[in-house]
Amino acid sequence: MAEGRTLFSPYKMGKFNLSHRVVLAPMTRCRALNGVPQPALAEYYSQRSTPGGFLITEGTLVSDTGAGFPHVPGIYTDEQVEAWKKVVDAVHAKGAIIFCQLWHVGRASHGVYQPGGEAPISSTNNPISKRWKILLPDGSHGTYPPPRRLEAHEIPHIVEQYRRAALNAIRAGFDGIEIHGAHGYLIDQFLKDGINDRTDEYGGSLANRCKFLIQIVQAVVEAIGADRVGVRVSPAIDHLDAMDSDPVSLGFAVIERLNKLQQNIGSKITYLHVTQPRYAAYGQAESGKHGSDQDEAEFMRTLRKAYHGTFMASGGFTRELGMEAVASGDADLVSYGRHFISNPDLVLRFKLNAPLTKYVRKTFYTQDPVVGYTDYPFLNKASAKEELLSRL
Ligand SMILES: Cc1cc2nc3c(=O)[nH]c(=O)nc-3n(C[C@H](O)[C@H](O)[C@H](O)COP(=O)(O)O)c2cc1C
Repeated sequence: MAEGRTLFSPYKMGKFNLSHRVVLAPMTRCRALNGVPQPALAEYYSQRSTPGGFLITEGTLVSDTGAGFPHVPGIYTDEQVEAWKKVVDAVHAKGAIIFCQLWHVGRASHGVYQPGGEAPISSTNNPISKRWKILLPDGSHGTYPPPRRLEAHEIPHIVEQYRRAALNAIRAGFDGIEIHGAHGYLIDQFLKDGINDRTDEYGGSLANRCKFLIQIVQAVVEAIGADRVGVRVSPAIDHLDAMDSDPVSLGFAVIERLNKLQQNIGSKITYLHVTQPRYAAYGQAESGKHGSDQDEAEFMRTLRKAYHGTFMASGGFTRELGMEAVASGDADLVSYGRHFISNPDLVLRFKLNAPLTKYVRKTFYTQDPVVGYTDYPFLNKASAKEELLSRL
């Protein structure tokens, strides 16, 4: 039990002094036209910034083969780096800290998103099942095509793309990066035994399935320093068919390797970010397969205890559940997704325990730079004061 910890108590996340623990979760919003961050992104992230608050960007592509949604930003060209600088500056001007989430979707793509219309890359040749649909640039939905299994000798090249993207992120002024190893995308396609059917050094045993992720972590840590690197995983989430026969052992295997890496280099990565099973099928539906709240809290607690460092939880948290998780020590930080989309001043609303605006799902992935993006209301001063007074 950690004494007096609430969502609003300060937290020292490595070298960063956070003034509270309500984190903006990484969320793809499809407003970076042709892969380049626009002024609207600066406005969106700035709206969600608080002094000493922590933000994680939407998934940001490490290469031109990484996309699986329309108009997602990249961080592999100079133009993208320059454009990100404006976003980072706007966030820093508000006193907040921002990490860039590095992303490659792997097989969760389509010829329309690939250079030359080629097959997307993955750990396997098997496609995502027809149960899932891909959002295409014209707003329609299609089936996922069969990917091409990466040859082992091609993998160092992909690791290098992450390393360069991390260096680019620092060049753009980001305080650090998060490696997206969750939700059925490329790294998760290596981690999960329901997808990874390789017989080489990147498949089979847990050690082999963790290898790609750990090689990326190592490369990025060497490039920009452990204290600027977060890692996200979701061992128990089956989004995009990312099933594992033993999620607990997979979670432990990743954590054991992160702990060991930290021990070897004598410093910690910034945090481990784990998505709860409670939240599945984001963006596509409101429901997913999950266990009881009790089972899920137990699962997260087990991972939390195993990891030697800052632990961030995400997925289906309300204000109350977040307060409980922080007070009990089950999480140091809680990242909020959907509520933060529709409540730019979520931190203030949580502080006041004010009502939340409901998010509009149909504008999650549209391209309008304002509608459903930067036009969600703030509490005005009068209503904020009223909320506060009513609680005295
Ligand atoms: C519109 C949308 C886009 C998302 N995009 C990403 C993403 O790019 N990277 C990622 O790691 N998670 C992504 N997520 C998952 C969120 O980070 C978060 O874990 C999830 O929404 C659960 O938290 P919530 O219940 O507070 O919404 C996305 C979620 C939503 C709703």
